Amino acid sequence: MIPKSKKPYRLHKNKTTILARTRNPSVDTIDATLEKLFRILPSIVNIYELLRPFLFTLPPEWAHQLTLNALRWYGYLPAKKIKRDLTVEVGGLHVPSRVGLAAGFDKDGIAMRGLSKLNFGFLEFGAVTPRSQPGNPRPRVFRLRNDFALINRLGFNNQGIDALIQKIVKEEPQVNVPIGINIGKNFDTPLDLAIGDYEYCFERANSLVDFVTINISSPNTPGLRDLQSAEPVQALLARLVRLRDSNVKHSQKRTLLLVKISPDLSAGELERLCTTIREEGVDGIVATNTTITRQDIDVDQPQGGLSGRPLFPLALECVKLARSFLGEEFLIVGCGGIWDSSTAKQMREAGADLLQIYTGLVYQGPRCLRSLSQTD
Ligand SMILES: Cc1cc2nc3c(=O)[nH]c(=O)nc-3n(C[C@H](O)[C@H](O)[C@H](O)COP(=O)(O)O)c2cc1C
Repeated sequence: MIPKSKKPYRLHKNKTTILARTRNPSVDTIDATLEKLFRILPSIVNIYELLRPFLFTLPPEWAHQLTLNALRWYGYLPAKKIKRDLTVEVGGLHVPSRVGLAAGFDKDGIAMRGLSKLNFGFLEFGAVTPRSQPGNPRPRVFRLRNDFALINRLGFNNQGIDALIQKIVKEEPQVNVPIGINIGKNFDTPLDLAIGDYEYCFERANSLVDFVTINISSPNTPGLRDLQSAEPVQALLARLVRLRDSNVKHSQKRTLLLVKISPDLSAGELERLCTTIREEGVDGIVATNTTITRQDIDVDQPQGGLSGRPLFPLALECVKLARSFLGEEFLIVGCGGIWDSSTAKQMREAGADLLQIYTGLVYQGPRCLRSLSQTD
């Protein structure tokens, strides 16, 4: 029985209905309730599994917006700050787990706080471009349920780097894992001026984030992948490495510079690209982006980049080759079709230091992060 003095409500004389609060519940009581709530929230998060059949009846982009908004609100629920063990150092990043969120899931950083409450070791936002742009006409995301895959041809729909920077400035103090952003060029910037777009984004983000990923591998911006070829990539990387280094002198902060590569390169192309990446002094690669190939799946599928389980063998092979070209010390983030502890283990054995996931999350929900986050 609650002692009289602690009862938050007073019953009106001779009436059984609660009429008024005689005093506010103490701050301690509120804290205790919120703590309890936060303790059970992980099981509430599993509600994703219950909601998925409903979400999968919606067009994929709507379902994604709903999920992002739910995560946004989840981020604002009051809770005790989770302490993260950031003692594992990988390639200069201090991470609580090796599994991070891949680019494209939260392009504009709207659910930054909520995502940081899930079991990710690090988060990548974007891709962003200097100016906001709507992306390609809809529909532009497709589910391939039988293959546990997605095809997207979004085309860098985003609100622009400045909007993302504002979110980072506001939210970053609440985020307790390393964050990075993925940068691209606007669709109407000619390829020979693309370096300017990357420079602009890099300079804006440089001192605020832990890593910046140069996206030259999205299949959905015409010509973008041409930037992976010898001359343009050398010029682009040389400029960005110079910017990174001059920032170290001014702000004492060293932002890691990563390059995201395509799984569709031949072994020869990959070797040449890796050589340039290493020679120019880039810190690491993300392997891989989506593929335009359609191995073992229905060939009539729409145009765009394929992600999820069918991408895994390609991404795995790419990581293996890249490791052999880049040497032991170079940071490699493996991405593409990672689904469970077995695929995570294979990716680690192929040479990936860190891992990223996107499509696996859409199909399985945040629960899959529990086992993945234990990846050694
Ligand atoms: C809908 C969608 C949007 C994506 N947008 C981006 C993006 O903006 N920038 C980027 O580098 N990769 C983007 N990706 C690729 C993912 O980051 C990742 O490289 C790819 O999906 C492979 O991982 P997965 O099989 O775990 O999904 C996107 C993927 C999907 C499915």
